[in-house]
Amino acid sequence: MAEAELILQHVSKIFAEGTTREVKAVDDLSLEVKKGLLVTLLGPSGCGKTTTLRMIAGFEYPTRGKIFMGDKLINDIPPQRRDSAMVFQSYALFPHMTVFENVAYGLKVRRFSRQEIKRKVVQALKLVDLEGLEDRPPGQLSGGQQQRVALSRALVTEPKVLLFDEPLSNLDAKLRVSTREELRRLQQKLSITSIYVTHDQAEAMTISDEITVMKDGRVQQIGFPEQIYLHPENKFVADFIGEANFYRGTIIKSQDGRVEVKMLDRLITINQDGDFHPGDEVEVVVRPETVDIVAQGKGDFDGVVKFSHYTGSAATYHLELRGGQKMEVKVLNPQEKGLLRDEEVVGVKLHRNNIHLLTGK
Ligand SMILES: Nc1ncnc2c1ncn2[C@@H]1O[C@H](COP(=O)(O)OP(=O)(O)OP(=O)(O)O)[C@@H](O)[C@H]1O
Ligand SMILES: [Mg+2]
Repeated sequence: MAEAELILQHVSKIFAEGTTREVKAVDDLSLEVKKGLLVTLLGPSGCGKTTTLRMIAGFEYPTRGKIFMGDKLINDIPPQRRDSAMVFQSYALFPHMTVFENVAYGLKVRRFSRQEIKRKVVQALKLVDLEGLEDRPPGQLSGGQQQRVALSRALVTEPKVLLFDEPLSNLDAKLRVSTREELRRLQQKLSITSIYVTHDQAEAMTISDEITVMKDGRVQQIGFPEQIYLHPENKFVADFIGEANFYRGTIIKSQDGRVEVKMLDRLITINQDGDFHPGDEVEVVVRPETVDIVAQGKGDFDGVVKFSHYTGSAATYHLELRGGQKMEVKVLNPQEKGLLRDEEVVGVKLHRNNIHLLTGK
């Protein structure tokens, strides 16, 4: 098992707002990042992602808790001596300097020789495919190119830890996807420990070794992408990652990993390990893509199509079930099965292995 490169122990940050109010931006956060892995901090706006990153970089001082890089406590070490580099959403390039000078800046500050600087900058620009643009000012580059300069500037000093604060948010949708793939390839090739902040769950799912889901300054769950998606620990995580339908359920029986639950007035038997007891109230999580559309009367429930949207590769149907409950169903390659019309009545069948039960936390 790789050793931890970065450790946060019970870190909190409380900001004073005026003289009377306090904001708990980060609340008792503990996290371990193993060498060479990319861990994302994922959560809605204001949940404390940037504040966490700024404490790791040394721009903010934790109100409580300890931050270690390797086995060294770094709370009191100033940013420029922390062996980390940050890439910002706004790029934060120096507009009056050329691409070369931007990337060279950190090396100059560290008093490398002219020759060394030249060699390292050329190499760092090559890593991000920007050779030939050395003499341009950032203002004459596209957004994607500017972000690559920012990345190259962060990489050139060979930091132990790279910190990314929503680095792709200013790029258009297509470029965001290709840049995140490039970034992930580079991070894996250089095996550089990274903390990546985003509020975009798809971005987090595709580039992370591990995801830390946050809300109101607190960690909600830490896990591999598929763990977070398939086994969310609470309703917030289930709702924030992907789409989900939620229903109240009551446990009827639980034995050997088979759980009988009553939901929407029907008994459903599903496979899930856990500590369930007859009478327990649970939240039943049904992902829209784990529901099949079948003929009326042939599924677990019948429903009426009330609204649909079609994106080409998928169709999402909003159904109203008997009793007024709603269910969102996502069908991939929908034209093959025939697109449904509004007011059409269909059956829905739930995949037994993909239903997930949450106990009332
Ligand atoms: N310097 C500050 N003084 C007072 N409050 C602050 C300060 N910096 C951040 N906060 C507050 O701390 C909370 C967390 O802010 P933070 O910037 O870490 O959120 P975030 O998760 O990065 O959000 P976003 O996705 O919008 O960037 C917010 O409520 C914010 O208003
Ligand atoms: Mg932020």
